[in-house]
Amino acid sequence: MITIALPKGRLMDESLEIFKKAGIEVDVPSSRKLFFTDKENNYRFLIVRAQDVATYVEYAAADLGVVGRDVLNETEPDLFELLDLGIGYCRMVVAGRDKGCINKKNSAVKVATKFVNIARNHFLKKGLNVEIIKLYGSIELAAVLGIADCIVDIVSTGRTLRENGLEVIEDIFESTAFLVSNKISYYAKNEQIAKLINLLKNERAC
Ligand code: PRP
Repeated sequence: MITIALPKGRLMDESLEIFKKAGIEVDVPSSRKLFFTDKENNYRFLIVRAQDVATYVEYAAADLGVVGRDVLNETEPDLFELLDLGIGYCRMVVAGRDKGCINKKNSAVKVATKFVNIARNHFLKKGLNVEIIKLYGSIELAAVLGIADCIVDIVSTGRTLRENGLEVIEDIFESTAFLVSNKISYYAKNEQIAKLINLLKNERAC
């Protein structure tokens, strides 16, 4: 059996949709149960927080996982990226109240973000000093309330920025979700993993 860690929420629904189209049928438990199998008992799925998927795979509690490029770029886990699933599209951006918000003459730019490494590297490349303010959610508020000059965050529909009077200042990269594997599982279960990748690829080609 192959164990696959899925991120809770919208990306889990989109992942299961792809698996279903590839012929892997599952009944998601309506209870608080955090794992379930497909109908043919070939795959076991774990329901975990998006930020934790790579950890479960790295520690080989799961053979495979579905992880966004945003999380991969932030945490740089030691995993094989097997397939771009093309789901969970979003953009990593710098956003703020206006285009001038990152033009600081004598002081560091204050950046609020969950993506500390991505933010630091982005501003480093631009040669700007930054002070990173680490937050865990509702990042936009930090720019609205002025504790940060700007934010680095993901934008999907753009609604959260719009409804809070913020705009995109710079694009950093585009993100979609990838199927990842730890190295041990990749070699030990190569045949089954290759079969799954083919099923998913064929589905994507349709
Ligand atoms: C994410 C992200 C933005 C929002 C963008 O937050 O941090 O706040 O989605 O989506 P949109 O462009 O479609 O409006 P999430 O919903 O994960 O909640 P969070 O604030 O707790 O991080």
